[in-house]
Amino acid sequence: MKSDIPYERMADVERSKVEAHLKTQKYYRCLLIVTCLTTVLLVLFVLQTLLVPTATSSSSSPGLKVHPPIRDTCTDPCRVSLVESIPVGLDFNSSVSHPSIYQTWMNLISGAQSSLDIASFYWTMTNADTGTHEPTANEGERILQELAQLSGRISVRIAVNKPDKQPQNLQLLVDSGAQVRSVNMKQLTTGVLHTKFWVVDKRHIYIGSANMDWRSLTQVKELGAVVYDCSCLANDLDKIFEAYWFLGQSKTIPSPWPSQYTTAYNKDTPMELSLNGTTSEVYLSSSPPSLCAEGRTGDLQSILSVIDDARQFVYIAVMNYLPTMEFSFPKRYWADIDTQLRRVAFERRVQVRLLISCWGSTSPIMLSFLRSLAALQNERKLDVQVKIFIVPANPSQKQIPFARVNHNKYMVTDKVAYIGTSNWSGDYFVNTAGSALVVNQTSDQSTAQTVQQQLQAVFERDWDSQYSTLLKHNSNLKDICSTLDSQQEEL
Ligand SMILES: *[C@@H]1O[C@H](CO)[C@@H](O)[C@H](O)[C@H]1NC(C)=O
Ligand SMILES: *[C@@H]1O[C@H](CO)[C@@H](O)[C@H](O)[C@H]1NC(C)=O
Ligand SMILES: *[C@@H]1O[C@H](CO)[C@@H](O)[C@H](O)[C@H]1NC(C)=O
Ligand SMILES: *[C@@H]1O[C@H](CO)[C@@H](O)[C@H](O)[C@H]1NC(C)=O
Repeated sequence: MKSDIPYERMADVERSKVEAHLKTQKYYRCLLIVTCLTTVLLVLFVLQTLLVPTATSSSSSPGLKVHPPIRDTCTDPCRVSLVESIPVGLDFNSSVSHPSIYQTWMNLISGAQSSLDIASFYWTMTNADTGTHEPTANEGERILQELAQLSGRISVRIAVNKPDKQPQNLQLLVDSGAQVRSVNMKQLTTGVLHTKFWVVDKRHIYIGSANMDWRSLTQVKELGAVVYDCSCLANDLDKIFEAYWFLGQSKTIPSPWPSQYTTAYNKDTPMELSLNGTTSEVYLSSSPPSLCAEGRTGDLQSILSVIDDARQFVYIAVMNYLPTMEFSFPKRYWADIDTQLRRVAFERRVQVRLLISCWGSTSPIMLSFLRSLAALQNERKLDVQVKIFIVPANPSQKQIPFARVNHNKYMVTDKVAYIGTSNWSGDYFVNTAGSALVVNQTSDQSTAQTVQQQLQAVFERDWDSQYSTLLKHNSNLKDICSTLDSQQEEL
């Protein structure tokens, strides 16, 4: 009882003392944390300044230590052709047409004599793989059979994004003698291996949007390029393949990549060669930057420089276009390409056209961003337009999962052709593996057809077709994509 009052008073005093003490303690703790953080940031900053120059120099110009390989003169009689898959039922009132991807793959397989290397995202070549009963899976099934036979005769190597489980058709190829390595991009870069190309006999190459999927031959609209009798280019693409092949059995990404992955050919020093007799400058770009060996132009740098080089127009046909990191959590804004397009439209009055796809799982935010880009359009000065390309589907076609879409991934300017394998959102340039072929024939004064002209004609055919709808400020996803079955899943 007696001690109650003093105790309480003492308690008051003590409490305020303790509070004051706690306050100073809190203050010092804060100070300590701030100091620690500052130190960490400083160390990171110093490390960055030390490391970044070597990292960036490896993806652009040759560094000081590694000597770039000698740039041999290419004397190969290279021939190039655009190749396409036009989904069944799609009719263009146009004379513009190119060999089918199916026929091209068949030709490459039947001509192969010593080796076939394939970089691929996933494999679903048969009805059994997709749980369908579609007669249009025939072409894919035929290719798979031919590949199995080939695997018994010559070296067939397949790099594939690490699947959850080995699909049946890859197992068939392994059983037939093919070597398969799955690349664990998820673990290596938090991305996927999204690249799609073939290297045959280290002499011919195919590169483009088509996946190793029967639907990519008959039910999805695809575009690629094949280059025959061109060992110079094939050897360079093979270096990108060899990097995937190495990563198929590695837990880390080499940094820097050993010299055998180094290239002399990039946007600043492209390969000079003859394509169908036309003098051409060509290079292959690759993403993400961590997969680019010394000398290799990153895929984003190649896109930005192609846009920057345009003087009259930039036509882009891609399935997805988003100025965001689509698959990052939390989502991030990523506007490198978007800014470049707005810049050339504004500063140089370059005409910009985007042909984008729409299907059941198209996110409404994509249309918002596209409307924002198209909003630049005004009477005389800025010329930016967006159209949405829709591949119509009858009721039975609608049942095919992940099909009936324009899956093209290319760009054509008044100068060059860019044929790639990536969707256009940040992820594809930051952590996902993709690659592209850039063909520049501006130095040739002859009247021969160029790849640029052919690709421009493809774009204009599609842009002017009945399948394309102009995006207006008040267009909404529901109206524009109304012909689509909302049940359709994402690819
Ligand atoms: C096809 O194109 C030609 C020439 O552009 C045109 O005259 C004709 O009306 C078109 N046909 C159809 C069915 O659209
Ligand atoms: C195409 O080649 C010309 C002539 O060599 C060059 O000036 C131009 O920068 C090249 N364009 C691209 C996009 O590489
Ligand atoms: C090159 O020649 C092939 C035929 O060998 C042809 O299919 C292709 O369209 C030509 N390419 C160009 C760019 O003219
Ligand atoms: C392209 O984008 C779609 C939609 O976001 C995505 O699901 C797909 O994996 C991407 N890659 C392909 C197959 O082109």
